[in-house]
Amino acid sequence: MNRRDFALQLSRILSLVLILPMTAIINACTTRKEEEEFTIIQKNTNPLADSLVKEIHILTPAEGAILVIGQTFLISWEAKNVTNFNVQLYSGGNLIQTIVANETDFSFQWAIGPINTTTATIKVFDTSDPTVVDVMENPFTIVTAFEIDLAVHTALQSVGGYTFFEPPSLGRFITKRISATTFESISMLCTHNSCNVALQPDKSFLCPCHSSSFDAFGNVINGPAIIPLSIFRTEYYPLESKVVVFSY
Ligand code: FES
Repeated sequence: MNRRDFALQLSRILSLVLILPMTAIINACTTRKEEEEFTIIQKNTNPLADSLVKEIHILTPAEGAILVIGQTFLISWEAKNVTNFNVQLYSGGNLIQTIVANETDFSFQWAIGPINTTTATIKVFDTSDPTVVDVMENPFTIVTAFEIDLAVHTALQSVGGYTFFEPPSLGRFITKRISATTFESISMLCTHNSCNVALQPDKSFLCPCHSSSFDAFGNVINGPAIIPLSIFRTEYYPLESKVVVFSY
């Protein structure tokens, strides 16, 4: 064998050594891919598997949301293989009301209410099978909001001015203008036994029932009350010339 023949022979041998295993690998990959595709097709075309699954998942309200009584809110959910829904409101784990029964849509426009609570949760379940259910794990808050029109309550147009209010939802409270942009609202419900306290000339509060007294910020000075008067969150909206008092 001359040198040229030897080189030709060597290149044939190398081709066989390198190409054959590569071909085998490619074939193996192709076969595996085809098997996988077949498996996926089988999974996706099995109608029985999906038809057995029933699921509900609440979308809104979000956990930690703050909703105001009297406004409306869209409770929504997604579901699989459920057509009729019951929606219930819980507070502290206790059923408060069925918001809607036999709803066929995936949402419901809720007139927020009926109570102030920081432990509200929503439960949505299949009307025909209550075991198909979703319950919010963490709560949201429902509050009362009371609007004060400064054009009407003119005492609050000046710093140092104050006015009393007594809406049924909040009980008696006083709102004071602390500065040009800040207001403060203090519940006047005595924390001992729920009598209304009276404002004193020095701006402190005295309860007529058992003589508990509170300073101008609602802190206890003398018992028997041991808990300060409640402070309501108060927001000022200068463009609308109004103050909103919230029950928390
Ligand atoms: S109710 Fe106010 S001190 Fe008892």
